[in-house]
Amino acid sequence: MALKFPNALLFFFFFFFVFSTIAPGSYEDPTRRTMEEFSGYPFHSSHPIFSLSPVNLESLQKQFDELANFSDTPAPSVTRILFTENDVLARGYIKELMGKAGLSVREDAVGNIFGRWTGSDPELGAVATGSHIDAIPYSGKYDGVVGVLGALEAINVLKRSGFQPKRSLEVILFTSEEPTRFGISCLGSRLLAGSEALVNGIKESVDDQNTSFFDAAKSAGYVVSEENLSTVILEKGSYFSFLELHIEQGPLLEEEGVSIGIVTAIAAPASIKVEFEGNGGHAGAVLMPERNDAGLAAAELALAVEKHVLETGSMDSVGTVGIIVLHPGAINSIPSKSHIEIDTRDIDEKRRDGIVEKIHQSSIDIAKRRGVKLSEFRIVNQDPPAKCDHLIINALEVAVRQLNLSHKMMISRAYHDSLFMARVSPMGMIFIPCYKGYSHKPEEYASIEDIANGVNVLALTLAQLSLE
Ligand code: GLV
Ligand code: MN
Ligand code: MN
Repeated sequence: MALKFPNALLFFFFFFFVFSTIAPGSYEDPTRRTMEEFSGYPFHSSHPIFSLSPVNLESLQKQFDELANFSDTPAPSVTRILFTENDVLARGYIKELMGKAGLSVREDAVGNIFGRWTGSDPELGAVATGSHIDAIPYSGKYDGVVGVLGALEAINVLKRSGFQPKRSLEVILFTSEEPTRFGISCLGSRLLAGSEALVNGIKESVDDQNTSFFDAAKSAGYVVSEENLSTVILEKGSYFSFLELHIEQGPLLEEEGVSIGIVTAIAAPASIKVEFEGNGGHAGAVLMPERNDAGLAAAELALAVEKHVLETGSMDSVGTVGIIVLHPGAINSIPSKSHIEIDTRDIDEKRRDGIVEKIHQSSIDIAKRRGVKLSEFRIVNQDPPAKCDHLIINALEVAVRQLNLSHKMMISRAYHDSLFMARVSPMGMIFIPCYKGYSHKPEEYASIEDIANGVNVLALTLAQLSLE
């Protein structure tokens, strides 16, 4: 049911009415105990609940379609790499939507974009939500975008409902959640959260064309240098809470016919760069016993990654080799150099660290056995997992109940900007189903109805938290 509130008095009267009618404790919910046992979180709420104006499905769908046009590869794939022309155009598109939603827009030195709806008590820490719009090569149009366009629509829904926030509400577009261009994942949120290692890392970062991060940012209109990099870091207490809406990127919600996933924790990611150097030579003339093939060392290491991950015996351990580059890259030349990039994750940090250690040992052993040099073994990031906040989880449970949506507690195996926002703010995530769990490929799809469910949950939760 859609309700509009012509004035504040009516609005608060309605608040009181609904709250007093369905306040937790005033009825016995048969699923409550099971949920508590399953999630490990007690269910309670001290917040009033209200009805929302409907999501504008047509205009939201149009925004997904329009944003997907800013791509370096043809539809249905989307490729939108940090600070390229299409990234800049897409950023402009979002800033325009922020303006239309009546938000005041600011950008920091690395291009994180913030759209703020100032609350009635602007001195209080704000409630923020957001995600990313960069897209890895040949991916889809929903990863990250659901959490940006969906957040803006949640703000619009609240405005149409006549809601007035007490704490300011803010939508954040994070710079470069994907590591595609500079090899650094969640660059914007990592820096916001105050990663000193990253401040140094960025200074040395170049892309595969040898363009520095600073020059790339400049070409996109951002003035960033060693001097002002630390201005990006958030002040303590900037946010009261942070929420991210995202497609599940896994099959569970769709398979089980569940509308909403409430995330309890995000798995721990690590990424590693390795380089081997051999002698190279002529593919016909150099006999097999004489070779020091850097390409085969990389191939062997890729298989070792798979072996070490499987050895843990846990379904929660994963490892991927997504990049192998051979030099000089000619069919009739033995590779003299190889470059390999490894991604490994686990919900258990210690077990993930064990895998990283074994990969290191294998790199040393393979180099020795094949007579090549291990010229680089660099752990680019080895991040701890993040736990979602109990209070936010409770607020999300209240919202899904109010909306009569089915939900389940789940972990996120993918990483998100939330992993880093959790370092500076209580954090929560909302998952919605996506087709067959597909993500990071063109077939990625979420229905507008499922997205709208997520937007409603987000809107109600933002509202609840803003009144805290
Ligand atoms: C995010 O894109 C991830 O790789 O988990
Ligand atoms: Mn992604
Ligand atoms: Mn994402």
